[in-house]
Amino acid sequence: MNKPIAPALLSNATPQVGIGLPHESAHLHVAGEATYIDDLPELAGTLHCALGLSPVAHGTLKGLSLDGLRALPGVVAVLTAADIPGPNDCGSIVHDEPILAEAELRYLGQPVFAVIATTRDIARRAAAQAKAVMQIEPLPAVLTPQEAHAKGQYVLPPMHLVRGEARAAIERAPHRIKGSFDVGGQEQFYLEGQISYAIPKENDGMLVHCSTQHPSEMQHLVAHALKLHAHHVQVECRRMGGGFGGKESQSAPFACIAAVAARQLNRPVKLRLDRDDDFLITGRRHCFWYEYEAGYDDAGRILGAEVTMVSRAGHSADLSGPVMTRALCHFDNAYWLPHVAMHGYSGKTNTQSNTAFRGFGGPQGAIAIENILDSVARTLGKDALDVRRVNFYGQGQSTPERRNGVITPYGQKVEDNVIHELVAELEKTSDYRARRAAIAKSNAASPLLKRGLALTPVKFGISFNVKHFNQAGALVHVYNDGSILVNHGGTEMGQGLNTKVAQVVAHELGVRFESVRVTATDTQKIANTSATAASTGSDLNGKAAQDAARQIRERLAACAAAHHGGDAAAVRFADGKVEVNGRSLPFSALVAQAYQDRVQLWSDGFYATPGLSWDRDKLQGRPFYYFAYGAAVSEVLVDTLTGEWKLLRADVLHDVGRSLNPALDIGQVEGAFIQGMGWLTMEELVWHPQSGKLMTHAPSTYKIPTANDCPPVFNVRLFENDNVEDSIHRSKAVGEPPLLLPFSVFYAIRDAVSSVGGHRVDPPLAAPATSESILRALTAVQRG
Ligand code: MTE
Ligand code: MOS
Repeated sequence: MNKPIAPALLSNATPQVGIGLPHESAHLHVAGEATYIDDLPELAGTLHCALGLSPVAHGTLKGLSLDGLRALPGVVAVLTAADIPGPNDCGSIVHDEPILAEAELRYLGQPVFAVIATTRDIARRAAAQAKAVMQIEPLPAVLTPQEAHAKGQYVLPPMHLVRGEARAAIERAPHRIKGSFDVGGQEQFYLEGQISYAIPKENDGMLVHCSTQHPSEMQHLVAHALKLHAHHVQVECRRMGGGFGGKESQSAPFACIAAVAARQLNRPVKLRLDRDDDFLITGRRHCFWYEYEAGYDDAGRILGAEVTMVSRAGHSADLSGPVMTRALCHFDNAYWLPHVAMHGYSGKTNTQSNTAFRGFGGPQGAIAIENILDSVARTLGKDALDVRRVNFYGQGQSTPERRNGVITPYGQKVEDNVIHELVAELEKTSDYRARRAAIAKSNAASPLLKRGLALTPVKFGISFNVKHFNQAGALVHVYNDGSILVNHGGTEMGQGLNTKVAQVVAHELGVRFESVRVTATDTQKIANTSATAASTGSDLNGKAAQDAARQIRERLAACAAAHHGGDAAAVRFADGKVEVNGRSLPFSALVAQAYQDRVQLWSDGFYATPGLSWDRDKLQGRPFYYFAYGAAVSEVLVDTLTGEWKLLRADVLHDVGRSLNPALDIGQVEGAFIQGMGWLTMEELVWHPQSGKLMTHAPSTYKIPTANDCPPVFNVRLFENDNVEDSIHRSKAVGEPPLLLPFSVFYAIRDAVSSVGGHRVDPPLAAPATSESILRALTAVQRG
């Protein structure tokens, strides 16, 4: 990666992209000075809101006696669905999502009423009496995807993505495998919980400070709930303390409720959830259940595959449709599947409505094929890497597997395939073969502690499957002292988007990164923005900001040539200076001159990703601008008596194209790896089988990985590559794809468990591979 960048207008300059600059707010993060929404100074008269939640998983609300709560000292109002001026709906795609419950209680934790009080403590104490003030007739609840599937109960119609004749290919194949597999859900566990602070403004205006990945959608939904227009509502977000997909759609009810209360009472209202309520109210990554059958040859090449995926969507559609689409479009992962039939069902359950989480269904789709290939390797007695490799998408003509096909089941051609080189390089640098042999030897001599090793690849499609989301806008202001302000439609959630956008602008104008400041995302600055999601933040907003900066640079170049002679096209901007007709002048001097000349020193910019198409009924087209690739090798040690395990070493090679900022990108890869490892190994969600209550609703019962879970040897490198598409400085998106890298941890655990049975029995290991899950798989292997 660290190749020099050579844009048109730089000569011997210091590039501002392609270098490892620190996060724009790093100094504020570490000093505790970065402002999150609850840090904003509260306005006089601010009231606080807490929510009364449904105590049952399913039921009919027969009565609600709120007078007692309203009479409590400090309680200013108790609001219900009847207080919402507009429609009681905050669904992001399908309008099936009540802001506050009406007659039907759909899950335990569903908000039913909102207490507004002078302090947060008073509001919470009153809201905690929810159960006592509701008269409920309970109804039977459906909690699992299996139950929902058996009842044919879905939030959306089933989806089918089919190529060729899967059934016939499976039946014709020399070998067949059939099975089922479970993968659990995952809580986003953003450090800053859901929060909105609504402030009424003159003449029907409403300002909402909201921790959200999607300010424009919040603006739209708040306007809808208040029966106002979009131009009445302003939504602002300087940064989130993490989003991970959980604030793409699910910041909505809190923004709406705070705004409804603020409008009715004409006072500022803040709604900040505590962690338990956040767990109980909001959804998370969908758990998936799979049934599959595949036919393969002696080399382990998949000839036909059929898979049914059933997700736990929860009580409403939310983003379950697009999540399932992405799951189906990632079942292929890095592999060419000549005949394939995929069926996706979004099971409707009486649980929180599941939503986006880093990878957005991609990880759930891809892990199904990985599980199949892992089992295929075991039945053939082959190294799983060899089986994976013979299935890779084709590229060039030098080996049989490179002659595999290049068209995905959804009809897109894979034109940028680097998985062969990438995996070959990682296999070498991680010393995969020698370690495989050493592990076999050490396991033979160690009856209780078993080691396991796995290498897994990633191919991840970049773009929103919905074409019109792939657009962005930006505003760049150059002030007449030469300082620069940039604003764009993306949101900062810790991933470093603002840093990358500032780098792009600095680079374009030939100034130091430090001269560019990025401000809060604000619906009054950039209109109609897309969610910062699908890892597209820097691709889209980086290009839009570059477009804006380029226009200003061109005007400045014309001004310089007018004063100093020479060709405007030959003016160079670099290192805070401008070279014009043999002279060098400070950027700020040219800006001051341009201001005197009445040159427009600010500009808007726009970008729309080219070449995309998608038929959402047929699930065919070119949904992705390009693919990001990666691979990881993990080695684990499993204690076969307790089921405890440790990650000893992980080696990662990941493709971010030509990195905009290698320091941030490596941070994203490392973070995604550990987060994905948490999903597959330790984060377990448990709903009480009778009450339907989510029992794991706090860090006391829900275990996320910590710094101590990082492996002692963690070699993370970026793959030397250029994006073949004209992305921003030929970089690639990095936010989500590396979440799939820790598949290698899961399959290393499976390998260690499998060694107990001499690799003859396929371990029925479910994810998350908690100690209990590992012990169950061990017992099954020991029984043969
Ligand atoms: N990194 C941090 N630190 N915090 C986050 O919330 N969200 C992830 C990823 N990396 C997240 C993160 C998710 S789900 C996405 S889609 C991308 O960042 C979004 O940002 P980007 O498009 O700018 O990469
Ligand atoms: Mo990310 S799950 O697309 O917000």
